Amino acid sequence: MQPIIKAFGLCIAALALAIAPALAQSYPARTITMIVPFAAGGPSDAIARLIGESMGKTLGQQIVVENVAGAGGTTGAARAAKADPDGYTLLIHHVALAAGASLYPKLPYDTSTAFAPIGLVNTGPMVLMTKKDYPAADAAALIAKLKADGQKVTIAHAGVGSNSHLCTLLLQQALGVKFTQVAYRGTGPAMNDLMGGQVDVLCDQSTTGVPQIEGKTVKGFAVTSKDRLPVVKELPTLQEAGLKDFEFTIWHGLYAPAGTPQEIVDKVNKALQVALADKNVLARFSEVGTRPFPENERTPAAHKAQFDKEIATWKRVIGEEGLKN
Ligand code: MLT
Repeated sequence: MQPIIKAFGLCIAALALAIAPALAQSYPARTITMIVPFAAGGPSDAIARLIGESMGKTLGQQIVVENVAGAGGTTGAARAAKADPDGYTLLIHHVALAAGASLYPKLPYDTSTAFAPIGLVNTGPMVLMTKKDYPAADAAALIAKLKADGQKVTIAHAGVGSNSHLCTLLLQQALGVKFTQVAYRGTGPAMNDLMGGQVDVLCDQSTTGVPQIEGKTVKGFAVTSKDRLPVVKELPTLQEAGLKDFEFTIWHGLYAPAGTPQEIVDKVNKALQVALADKNVLARFSEVGTRPFPENERTPAAHKAQFDKEIATWKRVIGEEGLKN
């Protein structure tokens, strides 16, 4: 590198370091954007709006949700990765951010280093549902029908790498079949089509699945967790329904672009902690069968550890164990 260019680079870095504390002290001085990398009306959108409202009150500035949907959540993640690391752009994302590292060979960001984890938000199961008039009486009958019908079955999901897609792949693997997959920009629109009968099956997070099952707009069959979910305790687990070892639990985390000053990350984390102790947020979480991470697992460091672990897990499951479309 030319000495003059190197000196200029060092000056910029020193300036950034000098500005960071002042930036952190006055943060937040304006509206914050929280990117949801899926369509409105889906589970990520629901969780973002719920915690965003409470966090905005704590931070004294409004948090505006922006849905930047597409490519299984990677379009929104790319937008966040490129944003200024000043705390005014946050990203809520889930398992797909980690799995995407193994599913997309040409991502415009390095998943491991592009984001500053702020804190883990919620964790919960997915629910296997069908359109209202799908001809199966219970979970065991549904599994037998899905296996027999294979490609005749249309299954909706939110794009390659999304939770609903990963659940689809795990189901295909467990049953030894390939369904006809229909990709949407989020499970919000996928759920609309399930309700309208345009697709047969959807495996979606309990957050948006449970209210539709309770409202009888779709038929709920089984949950993907090891244990039954108290809000829909009549539904068996997929393990009880015959899919030995089937277990899939999702989680959301909150991120800032890498390089965001630690003081800002900590301020946002504190607001997240307040949101996750807010009785209205907790009541809604429990109504829809999801729960906050325990307090000691909500630090930026714990989130980073979980994120790194999940990147490695999906690399193994997709790469070495060959989980395939
Ligand atoms: C969504 O909000 O649409 C979901 O989180 C998508 C998914 O991962 O299935």
